[in-house]
Amino acid sequence: MSDVTDTGAKPGGEVDDDAEVPAVGGIVAELRHMSAEERARHEAEVAEVVAPDREIEVGVGDTLLAMRDVTLRFGGLVALDSVSFEIKRGEILGLIGPNGAGKTTCFNVITGVYRPTAGQVLLEGHPLGRRKRYAITQLGIARTFQNIRLFNEMTALENVVVGADARHRTSVLGALVRGPRHHREERQAVERAMALLEFVGIADRAADKAKNLPYGYQRRLEIARALATEPKLLCLDEPAAGFNPAEKEGLMELIRTIRDDGYTVLLIEHDMRLVMGVTDRIVVLEFGKKIAAGLPAEIRENPAVIAAYLGVPDDGVA
Ligand SMILES: Nc1ncnc2c1ncn2[C@@H]1O[C@H](COP(=O)(O)OP(=O)(O)O)[C@@H](O)[C@H]1O
Ligand SMILES: [Mg+2]
Repeated sequence: MSDVTDTGAKPGGEVDDDAEVPAVGGIVAELRHMSAEERARHEAEVAEVVAPDREIEVGVGDTLLAMRDVTLRFGGLVALDSVSFEIKRGEILGLIGPNGAGKTTCFNVITGVYRPTAGQVLLEGHPLGRRKRYAITQLGIARTFQNIRLFNEMTALENVVVGADARHRTSVLGALVRGPRHHREERQAVERAMALLEFVGIADRAADKAKNLPYGYQRRLEIARALATEPKLLCLDEPAAGFNPAEKEGLMELIRTIRDDGYTVLLIEHDMRLVMGVTDRIVVLEFGKKIAAGLPAEIRENPAVIAAYLGVPDDGVA
């Protein structure tokens, strides 16, 4: 699997590393000199740019995505065994379970990396069927990866512009690199990407190459890039992996903000305490089977869940 197909973006090799990115220095510099009041006003404007026509009005609670009896076999191994659950619009659904339970595989099925051996995934009632990854991105499902995947030689800002590109027909990145043809689209894309970087808290490093960003910034950049595709459903695969407790808390705060902004979030997280604090509902997998689903408080008391997690350290790597 390459980054290229995962984002539906152009190969990183085609991009001129030294291409000038307009306006970055300006915005970043301005932000540094704002008063608290100016900053608050600016943040409201940012929220508007980040999500201009999101359907915040739609009823929370109708089903956005449904897994129906999804089975996935890898040769003799049953990675998912007739798994069914629903994600409601506007919620944060936690997907938990020990190492090898099938959590990432679940994401891979939802985002079209693998096709189910049996069963279906439905988005807003429509089966995803044999759609390819880019088509599923365009339908409104975005993800981050358990192992960070960024275009290392591109700046943070460019990585997000590429994310927006995965959604739109015309190549905004192409326009960026090639020149004056799509100035308006180009400016809007850069503005929106910049707003997303701010939203996830890393605007101060917008002009740095992804490979030079601190680890925590890279994780947040992945989220910004996923949000750039304007997803209805944002799937986060262990976004806090490798974080210390304070960083984890910061990230959970961001995930809450993302949800409060009207997005629906599917969160894979290995740390039980963390997932209890941020999710509305939780689905538990073990050996490819759903063993429980319910409110965090119910899951915490569930004997099957406790048994599944016994002996698994909180900071285990899934
Ligand atoms: N591409 C693959 N080929 C074969 N086996 C796989 C593949 N991807 C995952 N698996 C297996 O499927 C099971 C579930 O893996 P995964 O979904 O990554 O678990 P989790 O994310 O819950 O730790 C594991 O036994 C894993 O080894
Ligand atoms: Mg995993």
